[in-house]
Amino acid sequence: QRRPRVLSGIQPTADSFHFGNYLGAVRQWVALQDDHEAFYCVVDLHAITVEYDPKALRERTRRSAAQLLAAGIDPERSTLFVQSQVPEHAQLAWVMSCITGMGEASRMTQFKDKTAKGGADRATVGLFTYPILQAADILVYQADRVPVGEDQRQHVELTRDLAQRFNHRFGKTFRVPEAYIVKETAKIFDLQDPSSKMSKSSSSAAGIIDLLDEPKASAKKIRSAVTDSGRDVVFDEENKPGVANLLTIYSALTGRKISELEDEYAGRGYGDFKKDLADVVVEFVTPFREKTLTYLDDKAQLDAILAAGAERARAVTEPTLAKVYDRLGF
Ligand code: ADP
Ligand code: NA
Repeated sequence: QRRPRVLSGIQPTADSFHFGNYLGAVRQWVALQDDHEAFYCVVDLHAITVEYDPKALRERTRRSAAQLLAAGIDPERSTLFVQSQVPEHAQLAWVMSCITGMGEASRMTQFKDKTAKGGADRATVGLFTYPILQAADILVYQADRVPVGEDQRQHVELTRDLAQRFNHRFGKTFRVPEAYIVKETAKIFDLQDPSSKMSKSSSSAAGIIDLLDEPKASAKKIRSAVTDSGRDVVFDEENKPGVANLLTIYSALTGRKISELEDEYAGRGYGDFKKDLADVVVEFVTPFREKTLTYLDDKAQLDAILAAGAERARAVTEPTLAKVYDRLGF
């Protein structure tokens, strides 16, 4: 009887994680490692689906790992590794692509969103098949739960469909995983455009709070976040999306109920509210940034942690792939 397993990944596509990544996903990763067998990876194979610079990728992969450690991922309890160091991810992705329908893959909304500007013709095939690689990431660990933000729900659904299809066609092989999504923080919005999610690829830096920003810069971003012309601090996602988003962040970082915050700021206007939230953010990011920089100071140690993680990961992925190949008739 093993503990339930979790698997999740994050792309090294920016110098820093943002608050959406942290509150939507990474915070849950930290909490779940207590009673799960946890596998967490920096998904560099996913990061090459868009234009990138190899030198920056190598640096960002280390920065991502350092941030996960700073956030509280414990490499003794959790298996922390880099996706490209575990070849079974890519190997299983090929197999999964052979049981995925073209129509089914074409329905993935994230691909549509990501290619909305440049057009699908200019995108890579890798960006199109990204969700299939993600399915392989999850299934190769026989994961039970996948802690992610709301934007990944559809990809986890596809993963479930593929697992069930494979099991049906070739005999029971995979566990069918479930998305683990914490409703309150499943979607953190852009501070300047609270109708779209905070994203590493967002066009305006003013709308994204990066965990590694200078704390002062983050405070300023909070103070200049878009709200509305009213002055009541109430949680109303429809009519006050900017204020609702700030309340979500405030509540998540302090553990205080949203209703309690509404009471506290009743009749006080947005200025006070944003100033206090700016302080809360500074208090969070200051030590986080210091810890991350400390991990980055010792690259040899960081690389050793990741190499050990990859070895532990392979102890799980090799037997899964062997079983899959056997089922396939190889
Ligand atoms: P990004 O979407 O910023 O490029 P990733 O694709 O690497 O980041 O996603 C890493 C994790 O962060 C995923 O679980 C994703 O669902 C989560 N995530 C990303 N943006 C947000 C957001 N704005 N709110 C909540 N969770 C998010
Ligand atoms: Na994402």
